[in-house]
Amino acid sequence: MLRLKNLTIAVANKVIIKNLNLKLEKNKVYVLMGPNGSGKSTLALSLMGHPLYQVRSGKMILEKQNITEMEPDKRANAGIFLSFQSPLSLSGINIFSLLRTAVSGKKDPLALREEIEKTAKLLKIKDELLERSFNEGASGGEKKKLELLQASVLNPKLIMFDEIDTGVDVDALKTIAQFMEKNKKGKTYLIITHYNRILKYVRPDAVLIMVNGKIVKKGDYRLAEEVEKNGYQNL
Ligand SMILES: Nc1ncnc2c1ncn2[C@@H]1O[C@H](COP(=O)(O)OP(=O)(O)OP(=O)(O)O)[C@@H](O)[C@H]1O
Ligand SMILES: [Mg+2]
Repeated sequence: MLRLKNLTIAVANKVIIKNLNLKLEKNKVYVLMGPNGSGKSTLALSLMGHPLYQVRSGKMILEKQNITEMEPDKRANAGIFLSFQSPLSLSGINIFSLLRTAVSGKKDPLALREEIEKTAKLLKIKDELLERSFNEGASGGEKKKLELLQASVLNPKLIMFDEIDTGVDVDALKTIAQFMEKNKKGKTYLIITHYNRILKYVRPDAVLIMVNGKIVKKGDYRLAEEVEKNGYQNL
C-alpha cells in the first residue's frame, strides 16, 4: 500500500530522516515508537506533504502512484490522513463546515451531518463541541477525538495517528482505541506513540523503533513492552 524507498527528509536544512526504506501493507497496524526528536512526526508530516519538510532523495509510493512531489490536498484525495500531534484550531468554522468542504460533491450535506453526529456519539464527543469553532477552547483529549472523527468521515486508506493517545484520560483512551480497532478493516494504520497502553485495545502487526531518523528495530507487540520497561538504551 505504501512504500518508502531510500527516503531522506530535511527540515530547516537539517537532515532528519535518513535513507529510510519501509513497506506498509493494507489491513495492517504499525506502531512507530522512538525517543523525542527522533523524526516520527517529521516522517508523518512529510508523508502528508507538509511544505517545510523537503525530500532530499528517495521516493514515496502509494499503491503504485508516486506521491513524492504531490500537494497535500491531492494526497488527502489519494487516501492519506494525518491525525496531528498538536491539532490546530480554526476560527469561525465548525467541524460540519470543515468536513462539508472536504467532501463537497462526494456526500450529501444532510447525510454528512447525520454521520458526523452519529460518529460523535460513538466517540462520546459533546454536541456543543461540534457547533463551536473547530478546536477552539477544546481540551487536549477532545481535540484528539475530533481528529478521529475526521478520519472516520473521510475514510482514508492510510491513517497516521501522531500521538492520539497523549493527553487523553483512561476512559477516553479506551473509547478512542476501541473505535480505531473496530474501524481498521481495509485500512493501514501508522500509530505513533510513546506508550504501550493503547496497544491493549489495538493490537499491532509490527512495532517499529525510530532513533535518529532511522528504523533501528522491528518486532511485534512485545517490542513495545520491552521499550516501556527498559527504554531505548538497551535495544
Ligand atoms: N519545522 C521545523 N523546524 C526546525 N526543526 C524542526 C522542525 N520540525 C522538526 N524539527 C526538528 O526535527 C527533529 C525531529 O522532530 P520530530 O518532531 O519529527 O520528532 P518526534 O520524533 O516526533 O518527537 P516527539 O516524540 O517529541 O514528538 C527535532 O530535532 C526537531 O526539532
Ligand atoms: Mg512527534
